[in-house]
Amino acid sequence: MRRLRILVLMHPDFMPPDSADGYTAQEINVWKTEFDVVSTLRAAGHEVRPLGVQEEIKPVREAIESFKPHIVFTLLEEFHNKSVFDQHIASYLELMKIPYTGCNPRGLILARGKDLSKTLVQHRRIAVPAFAVFPMRRKVKRPPRLALPLIVKSLSEDGSFGISQASIVDTDEKLAERVAFVHDRLGTAAIAEQYIEGRELYVAVLGNNRLRALPVWELKFGSMGGQGARQIATEKAKHDPGYQERVGIVDGPANDLAPEVSARIQRTAKRIYRTLKLDGYARIDFRLAADSTPYFIEANPNPEIAKSQEFATAARHDGLDYPDLLHRILALGISRAKAGASVG
Ligand SMILES: Nc1ncnc2c1ncn2[C@@H]1O[C@H](COP(=O)(O)OP(=O)(O)O)[C@@H](O)[C@H]1O
Ligand SMILES: [Mg+2]
Repeated sequence: MRRLRILVLMHPDFMPPDSADGYTAQEINVWKTEFDVVSTLRAAGHEVRPLGVQEEIKPVREAIESFKPHIVFTLLEEFHNKSVFDQHIASYLELMKIPYTGCNPRGLILARGKDLSKTLVQHRRIAVPAFAVFPMRRKVKRPPRLALPLIVKSLSEDGSFGISQASIVDTDEKLAERVAFVHDRLGTAAIAEQYIEGRELYVAVLGNNRLRALPVWELKFGSMGGQGARQIATEKAKHDPGYQERVGIVDGPANDLAPEVSARIQRTAKRIYRTLKLDGYARIDFRLAADSTPYFIEANPNPEIAKSQEFATAARHDGLDYPDLLHRILALGISRAKAGASVG
């Protein structure tokens, strides 16, 4: 790839240092994605300018005008500390007529609502857990078709925010309690879903029109789940390296799946990607039930792409090393802009 000027947008708290030397694993964990992307693109010969933004859009405009980037690499997942504003950043860049990496605004909106995305996906006859939404300040009444146990989550937050063992409820009383927790502590509407016992599988997908699904990846929970606990990606399981090590939580290829099951899951992931109008790159998450039905859990456009995380390790496993992956993501942003705009 020719030498590019790349403006990398990120949260100001995650501005990485020039070198990771002398930092603890815990410190590095905070800005590893930003560090990996900036340092890898620099090492590949590009002119890279990291920019931390959160409350003011003006610095973005100024950087576009003075630095004249060929493309903006968007690692910014929230604005005004609201994650639902991620689509506005993509929209702003479209209005500025500047190519950007990752998903278009429409795809970000369709994928965000855990109810809307499931409704659209279910319409394509893809298996999704039964669910009900509990808006803020509304009395909690379980629809009779929705059988216990259920898992209660924020309708719009991600990163396993607010997910713990207590998220799985087996009585109406606990359901009401957990919905109240989501309303009061997370400040969003809640969704309760049929709890799917089974394996946790992820499929990374790259592309705008022609799609490439990477090998089916699995989050393996190790010894988590003793004493009646359930194997789910809780906040701790996802973000606490010490806990992951103690319990033996690792991700890797879902090796022992029958080839036809694996192929079906990859095909389903691509259909979901198209249904939700995603482009750039995204990770589609499933729970595989005992009868081998993959249930769609959620789509993550612009998933985390630190070198050590699922997306990048699945890519490497498929012959796409880290610099190549980042170049592919840049090329997709540039070709979308050349094609005129985001997918319709
Ligand atoms: N319907 C479900 N059945 C079983 N496990 C689920 C279900 N929904 C979520 N989970 C578990 O909770 C985790 C977080 O849920 P998810 O919807 O992906 O929220 P987030 O956007 O915070 O990642 C999942 O990775 C999975 O382990
Ligand atoms: Mg998730």
